[in-house]
Amino acid sequence: MNNFLHIKDIPVKDLKKIISDAKKRKAKRKKLNTLDPDKDVPLKGKILLQMFEKSSLRTRLSFYLAIKQLGGGSLTLRPEELHLGIGGESISDTSKILSTYGNAFMLRTDSDKKLNEFKKYSKIPIINGLSPSSHPTQVLSDIFTIQEIKKKSISKIKLCWIGDASNNMMNSLIEACVKFSISLNIACPKDYQPNKVLISWIKKKNGKIKIFNKKELAVKNCDVIMTDKIISLNDKVNKRKKLRSFKNFKVDAQTMSFAKKDAIFLHCLPRGNEVTEEVFLGRQSKVWQQALNRVYVQKSILLYCFDKLR
Ligand code: CP
Ligand code: NVA
Repeated sequence: MNNFLHIKDIPVKDLKKIISDAKKRKAKRKKLNTLDPDKDVPLKGKILLQMFEKSSLRTRLSFYLAIKQLGGGSLTLRPEELHLGIGGESISDTSKILSTYGNAFMLRTDSDKKLNEFKKYSKIPIINGLSPSSHPTQVLSDIFTIQEIKKKSISKIKLCWIGDASNNMMNSLIEACVKFSISLNIACPKDYQPNKVLISWIKKKNGKIKIFNKKELAVKNCDVIMTDKIISLNDKVNKRKKLRSFKNFKVDAQTMSFAKKDAIFLHCLPRGNEVTEEVFLGRQSKVWQQALNRVYVQKSILLYCFDKLR
């Protein structure tokens, strides 16, 4: 059994195995309906429990479809309907009960401490469906999408991130870039640089990462441009002040013109005003393919968790 909590903690050989399994499974589903199971039904009889303490559209639906297509089922728990949610039951007891009834648990939470606490008492795999520090399932799926579109060795990719470099997406993307040896240019305001612990980890691992304060310099010669909402879910900041700091970090057509001609634009969604409508809906944007790919990658993440990757 494996947990899927942070990209940093997962061996690169396993991350690569997840991606190649997703590719094979995706190719085999061309003639199948959305709810038809994969022929081998590898998770027949298994139930995935999901709980969201923050809103979700894509993660919720993609995990629902993923476990269904693997032959299993899912149940979404509403935190406010559990004893835990109203403070009447401990995380340790809740986690033990989840392990008694379920086969895997996917949690989207406001607290990394809570995620660790669940893990400590769990006997079933735990998946991080977004926490303040990480969004690993999204980022691994984005690596899959980049490979699918660019069709070249992932370590040859030059990626550019423009925007908030202190959030969960950025943390997971940095971890993935280090693991897969991807060159990453980051353009962000001075006050929103990547977290210091992560920077020392990058140095230790000889990561190919550069930080810029001008987006035009960062995107030069890049294959992929990514960004994310400036105000993340439950971000407890002065929103107007934060938005003001990002006024020179919006992805627009001119920014894209400094990248490679065949560069693509990716965004995990939901979006705010960090990207223009023209770019988001434009020719280079692959955001819908990116969103759908989450189903395929969640499936292989689940198989990894159940030790069932081929
Ligand atoms: N990208 C993503 O995780 O979307 P949701 O918040 O809708 O799940
Ligand atoms: N950084 C964003 C990602 C949303 C999928 C957030 O945490 O809200």
